[in-house]
Amino acid sequence: FSRQRLLVVANRLPVSAIRRGEDSWSLEISAGGLVSALLGVKEFEARWIGWAGVNVPDEIGQKALTKALAEKRCIPVFLDEDIVHQYYNGYCNNILWPLFHYLGLPQEDRLATTRSFQSQFAAYIKANQMFADVVNKHYKDGDVVWCHDYHLMFLPKCLKEYNSDMKVGWFLHTPFPSSEIHRTLPSRSDLLRAVLAADLVGFHTYDYARHFVSACTRILGFEGTPEGVEDQGRLTRVAAFPIGIDSERFIRALEINPVQVHIKELQETFAGRKVMLGVDRLDMIKGIPQKLLAFEKFLEENSDWRGKVVLLQIAVPTRTDVPEYQRLTSQVHEIVGRINGRFGTLTAVPIHHLQFETCNSGTLTGQVVFQQLYLAGHPSLKPGDSIDVALVTSLRDGMNLVSYEFVACQDLKKGVLILSEFAGAAQSLGAGAILVNPWNITEVANAIARALNMSPEEREKRHWHNFTHVTTHTAQEWAETFVSELNDTVVEAQLRI
Ligand code: G6P
Repeated sequence: FSRQRLLVVANRLPVSAIRRGEDSWSLEISAGGLVSALLGVKEFEARWIGWAGVNVPDEIGQKALTKALAEKRCIPVFLDEDIVHQYYNGYCNNILWPLFHYLGLPQEDRLATTRSFQSQFAAYIKANQMFADVVNKHYKDGDVVWCHDYHLMFLPKCLKEYNSDMKVGWFLHTPFPSSEIHRTLPSRSDLLRAVLAADLVGFHTYDYARHFVSACTRILGFEGTPEGVEDQGRLTRVAAFPIGIDSERFIRALEINPVQVHIKELQETFAGRKVMLGVDRLDMIKGIPQKLLAFEKFLEENSDWRGKVVLLQIAVPTRTDVPEYQRLTSQVHEIVGRINGRFGTLTAVPIHHLQFETCNSGTLTGQVVFQQLYLAGHPSLKPGDSIDVALVTSLRDGMNLVSYEFVACQDLKKGVLILSEFAGAAQSLGAGAILVNPWNITEVANAIARALNMSPEEREKRHWHNFTHVTTHTAQEWAETFVSELNDTVVEAQLRI
């Protein structure tokens, strides 16, 4: 009995590589959502194909890294600095990312981006072809190839050109915007056609799937059906597969020693105060400035809470070569400084803004989570200690697993989740969270007051809704469903011929 092989292709491998010498590397696994999802899936034998996040210009280094990665079932795609600049910083993170999250480019970048568009798009196609070459080299008959995210929208097309029998799925981890937004993209049709080469296309929510189908019908003139998109008798199946987390892993982590040590530290540091928590990659889509302004408004309007509540905001810097991200960092520092200057005292400040330099993966599991994040649920805590509220104010977010991770760790404390209605997670955790429009800082400030004053009964009821969801809709179930649906789709397509 041999398990079906699953080739998972994503821009970033689930390990970060640090060069120690000419031919030696040390690797650190970054267990983001996707990694833990697939670790739990027993019926497939998964291999990862992706970029290791480092520039390795020399052959000795490349060989050594390839060998080291093989032990972790990872296969590298080597991208040189120029490609990374044009494909990753440029087309992916300066064009597609803001567009898919409904954020326009800042005025000063707009024209420059319009001018460099063609060369960046060419680099994008070239990079996708490089990924396809590596996949093709490692592909064996019967394998399932699962492509991930906006970095690799051309990959399904490149793969099918190599071998039309390959089973290819593509999954988007960001929102897919309304077709009115997608149509502003100069490469709008090429991208859609390339994705449609896949057998199955998946999104986190039904709305994103619907937007994708209507982009295909309106821009390409193809037919939208309940099953997906049809062009001259060929169907590309399109559906929603909401991701989850490995909730067990979080629940178990609450019991381990280093976590308990940090719980003590946190208790001592914030004794007598309520703690609100934010954990975000330092990204425009996370609405961090909006969150800070809402907290300021709350302090303005609730003078009795001053000195009794602290916002612990953990930020993970990301994509630091893209100018818009650099501007965001200084903006956040400026706002934090201003609010702390305004409401701080000799002994305490209202905002603790911590930057973690270590993590570069999509979600924030690993260090951040286990040491700082979800300490609230531990039995050693007295009611009133530690984290009381989590504040997720994304302006747009494909799903937002931080909200899931928080819920998973709150079974004892029943902390309150304030969640942006623009995060995909709002569709699944809406019953238990307080949903807010992050652009409306008065509304968010009121939600903070409501969360801090909420009765234990209401907290319990809300938590129960979300905890049930998070522990039953797991990452593992998500991965299994997608892959078995992909297998079925291919069988059905063969029957149709
Ligand atoms: C999002 C994307 C992922 C990406 C992650 C981290 O979650 O959907 O594909 O890996 O952000 O961003 P980075 O650019 O550091 O890989």
